[in-house]
Amino acid sequence: MQIDISSSTGDYALLARQVSSILEGERDLTANASQFSAFVYAAIPDLNWAGFYLARPARQGADQELLVGPFQGKVACARIPFGRGVCGTSAAERRTIVVADVHQFAGHIACDSASNAEIVIPLIKDGRLYGVFDIDSPRLDRFSDADKLGLESMVAAFLAATDMA
Ligand code: SME
Repeated sequence: MQIDISSSTGDYALLARQVSSILEGERDLTANASQFSAFVYAAIPDLNWAGFYLARPARQGADQELLVGPFQGKVACARIPFGRGVCGTSAAERRTIVVADVHQFAGHIACDSASNAEIVIPLIKDGRLYGVFDIDSPRLDRFSDADKLGLESMVAAFLAATDMA
């Protein structure tokens, strides 16, 4: 299958359809998460990181924590407790968090010094939280309301196409 992502215009309806098309015929989590990260990173302009943090049992205590999964970008921190940083806050509160300037977000975890803006979208399917999808940009105020809705629709297409457990 050949999909021309170089001509992407920020048409999120098209991008969400392309996600469904790319993932069609495969439901494996590792495979689809890898493909999805690569597609987002290539199709959305001005990103320096895009990838998954998946909910896993915490190594200490009875709670869950986030463990890095398939991603594109520089090496990142492996484990993030629920409630910590932008990712842990999104997971704990089960909502998308848009950060215009990460340097103004108390508790932001800096993995790549190039990051200035961030959006984190929770992975929720059938009422269960499976982790988050995290996107970083070097451009301040990178993610508008339209980007938020569009990226959420891409994540929804990923979730529909993938067996999460
Ligand atoms: N900035 C995130 C950590 C993950 S990296 O950006 C890849 C956070 O504050 O949760």
